[in-house]
Amino acid sequence: MIKSTNEIRQMFIDFFYSKGHTIVPSSSLVPDNDPTLLFTNAGMNQFKNIFLCREASKYLRVVTSQRCIRAGGKHNDLENVGYTERHHTFFEMLGNFSFGDYFKREAISFAWELLTHINWFNIPKNRLLVTVYELDKETYDIWTNEIGIPKNRIIMVGDQNNLPFVSDNFWQMGDTGPCGPCTEIIYDYGDIKVDCLSKDLKLNNNNYLELWNIVFLQFDRQSNGKMIPLLKPSIDTGMGLERIVSVMQHVKSNYEIDFFKNLILKIAKLTCTKDINNISLRVIADHIRCCAFLIADGVFPSNENRGYVLRRIIRRAICYGNKLGVKKVFLYLLIKPLIEVLGESAKNLSNHQAKIERILKFEEEQFDKILKRGISLLDSELLNLKENDILSGEIAFRLHDTFGFPIDLIKDICKERNFKLDITGFEKAMKLQQIRARKFSKFECSYDNKILFNIQSHFNGYDQLDLSSTIKAIYIADKPIEKITTSSNSNNEDVVIILDKTPFYAEAGGQIGDIGNLKKPNSEFIVKNTIKFGNAICHIGNLISGDFSVGDICNATVDSIHRKLISINHSATHLLHAALCKVLGNHVVQKGSLISDKYFRFDFLHYNPLKLQEIDKIEEIVNEHIFSNTNIETKIISIDNAKLQKAKMLFKEKYSNYVRIVKIGNISKELCGGTHVLNTSEIGLFCIKSEYGISSGVRRIEVNTGKNAFIQMNNNKKQLNILSSLMKTNNSNLNEKFYNLINHVNIIERELQNLRKNQVNYETDLLMDRVIEIKNTKILVSKVDNFTSLMLNNIIIKLKNKLSSSVLVLATIIEGKILLIASVTKDLTNKIQANDLIKYLAKQIGGDGGGKIDLARGSGKEIKLLEKTLLSVKPWISDKL
Ligand code: SER
Repeated sequence: MIKSTNEIRQMFIDFFYSKGHTIVPSSSLVPDNDPTLLFTNAGMNQFKNIFLCREASKYLRVVTSQRCIRAGGKHNDLENVGYTERHHTFFEMLGNFSFGDYFKREAISFAWELLTHINWFNIPKNRLLVTVYELDKETYDIWTNEIGIPKNRIIMVGDQNNLPFVSDNFWQMGDTGPCGPCTEIIYDYGDIKVDCLSKDLKLNNNNYLELWNIVFLQFDRQSNGKMIPLLKPSIDTGMGLERIVSVMQHVKSNYEIDFFKNLILKIAKLTCTKDINNISLRVIADHIRCCAFLIADGVFPSNENRGYVLRRIIRRAICYGNKLGVKKVFLYLLIKPLIEVLGESAKNLSNHQAKIERILKFEEEQFDKILKRGISLLDSELLNLKENDILSGEIAFRLHDTFGFPIDLIKDICKERNFKLDITGFEKAMKLQQIRARKFSKFECSYDNKILFNIQSHFNGYDQLDLSSTIKAIYIADKPIEKITTSSNSNNEDVVIILDKTPFYAEAGGQIGDIGNLKKPNSEFIVKNTIKFGNAICHIGNLISGDFSVGDICNATVDSIHRKLISINHSATHLLHAALCKVLGNHVVQKGSLISDKYFRFDFLHYNPLKLQEIDKIEEIVNEHIFSNTNIETKIISIDNAKLQKAKMLFKEKYSNYVRIVKIGNISKELCGGTHVLNTSEIGLFCIKSEYGISSGVRRIEVNTGKNAFIQMNNNKKQLNILSSLMKTNNSNLNEKFYNLINHVNIIERELQNLRKNQVNYETDLLMDRVIEIKNTKILVSKVDNFTSLMLNNIIIKLKNKLSSSVLVLATIIEGKILLIASVTKDLTNKIQANDLIKYLAKQIGGDGGGKIDLARGSGKEIKLLEKTLLSVKPWISDKL
C-alpha cells in the first residue's frame, strides 16, 4: 500500500522515538536571534548552540521534521526551482540528532534499518549506495564491515581542488559554526553500472537521488577559517521529506508526490492550464508553499534581507503566472487549496490563513502596477534593439531602480526574445548608486571625509555631562588649523573641534548629536551638533569669545536639558518597540528611527495601517510601563550572552564580541549604544502623534513624550472644547450630537439630489422648446442658471437622447466662472467636432477647453462676453453643415 506524505513523516518520527529520541517541534523559518543565518536551512539550526556547547540540552537524542528554506544565503536553490525534479525553495527536513551521545556507528545503522527493514521503509538494499568523505576511514569500515555494503557501491569523495574541507562530503551550515564530514545515502533509480562509479558521479543525474545526509559534527568553523574541535562530537542527519516520499510513492519527481500532484492540478484549474507538466505550474506550486510558510512565520515582503527574499519569490511566482497567461491577482487564491492538500501538516498555515492571503494580495496588486509600467518601458527599449543585441546594464538598472523591476524578470524577458543582458554593467550601475547614496548621506556631504580618521576620541558621556579635556584637532571648512580666534572666525563658518575624551554623544543609531559648550577662561565655543568621523568625535559649532588652540585644556559641558529630553525619547523608543511586538506580532522589526529632543519617530515592518484600537492599546501599554517606575539598566556583556538572553538585535548588523545591552525590567532587552534615562517614570507621558506608511510594508510612528505629550493632549482637549461649544453641548455628549448631525446631513443630501434631479427634468423640458433646426440639424444654444457641472452633464445627456442629429451648447456660471459644455451626435462629427467648437467659444471668453469630438467642456472668465459668444454658435455651425 502506498503511504501518504503525512504517514511517511510520522513513520520517521515513530522509528526514532522507538530508539529513545525525544520528539521536538520544528523551529520557525526565521532563526531565533542568529544574525549569521538568513533562514532556517537545516534541521540542525535550532540546536546550533547545543552542538557548540554554549547551551545545555535537556535531551541527548532528538528527532524533528523541520521546515527549511533554501533561497538566499549560503544554500540557495531559487533559480533551480522548476527546472529540476528535486529543488525547492521550501522543504521539510527529517532529522535525528545526537548531542554527544551516539556517534557514527549507531547513526549509520539507524538509517540503514529505517530505510531497509521490512517493518519500516522496506527499500531494496540493492537500490542504495553511499558516499563517504575520502579521509573518513572509520565510516568506510562501518559501511563495509558492519552494514555489509559491497565496496563497489561506496563512492569516496575528496576535497575539491585540494582545498581542505571544501567537499560535497564535508557539511557546513554557513561560513561559520558547526561542521564536519558526512556520509550520504543515495537511491538508485536506474540500472547503475556500479563499476563506472567514480568520484565525479554527477548526483544531479536523474538516475541517482541523494536521500539522506548523515553529518558527523566535529568542528566549529571560525570566520578566519580555523576549525576548532567540538567538545562533544555529535550527529546531525537530514533527509528531505519530499525525496523519501518520491521513493516510497514510486515516482521520479518530487512534483509527482501526493500533495504536489494535487496542488498542481488545482493550480492548473485556476490558471486554465491544460498541460499539467508545464514548468510554471511547478514553480508556482513550490513558491506558494514557501511564501505561505514564510508569512506564517512572521516574514513580510520588503526591500531588505528576509523580506526581500520573500518579495523575490512572490514576484517570481507572479511572473510564472503571467507566463501561463494569468491576468488577475491570483496567488492569494491558492492558499486555500494549499491548506487542503497539505492536510494535517498545514496547521500553522490555517492559523494564519487570512493574514497570508491579505499580504499576498496586497503584494501582488503593488507588483502588478510595477509590472505594467516596467514592461511597457522595457518593450520600447527592446524595440530599438536588433536580434541578439545586448540590453545595456544602465537601462536594466534604471528599470530596477525606478520601477522596482526585478532583475530576474528582465533577464527572463530578454532571454525569451533572444536578447542578451549586460549583467556586469547592471552590477556596476548598482555599485555606483550605492556610492552616490553614501556620499549624500548627512555625515559625509558637509566634510567630505577629509577629517582625519585616525584621530581617536573617547566617549565618556553615559554618566558624565561635564569634563575637562584636551583639544586634539581643529578644522575650519575641512582644513586643519592650529588656533582659532574670534577674528579668524569672523564670518562665522562652522568649526570642528576634536577632544581626546568627551561627554558629547555623536549622532548614531537614530539618536541626534548633543549640544552644549566648550569653555576655558575668557573663551567659549558653542557646540551646535556632534557627529562622528571614523573614531573622531567632532564638536561642530562657533567660537563666540576668546580663542582655542590644539593642546589647550577646556571644559566640555553637554546641555543637560537637551540630553535629558533625548534620553527620555530613546527609552520611550524601546518601550514602543516592545509594545508594537506585543500588539501587532513579532514580525515588527525596527527599520530606522530618529530620536531628538522634541519628539521621536520609529519605522518598522508592518503591512496595514494601524487601527485606532491598536494605537490606543500601544499607548496604554507604554504608559503603563512609564507609570510602573521600572529601572532601566545598561550593561556590557558578551555577544553570546546577549543572544542567550534573546536581546533584540538588528539582522546583518556587525556586532563586536562585547555589546551594550539596555534592559527595561522584563519588558524590553535591546542592544543599543544610545543614552537612556534611569527609570521609566522619567518619561512622564507617551502620546502617538501620527502613524503612516513610508514605503511598501514599512510604517512610521511619530511620538511626543513628557511635556510635549501633555501639550499634544491638551491641544486635543481644546479642539474638543471648541467643537463642543460649536455644537452647543459638552464633551461627553459630543459623539451623539455628531452622529445626529451626520444623519441629518445625509437626509438633506438625499433630498437635495432629488430636487436637482427634478430640476434637471424640468429644465430639459423647457430647453426642448428652444431647440431650432438648421439644415435638418437640431440646434440648441442656451445659458442656464444655478446649475452644478454634474447637473449640466446630466442635462446634456438627456437632451442628446431625446434629439437625433443635434448640436447642443450649454453655459452656466459657477462661482464667477463660465462653464461650457458642447455635444455633437455621432452622425455629425465628420462635419462638426465638439472639441473644436468648445475651443472656438472658450477663446472668446478668455479661457480654454477640450475633450472628444462628440462631447467637450471648456471654461472662461469674461462673463460680459458670454452672450455675444453664444450668438456666434449658430453661424459657426451653419457654415460647416
Ligand atoms: N545538516 C545536514 C544537511 O542539511 C544534515 O541534516 O544536509
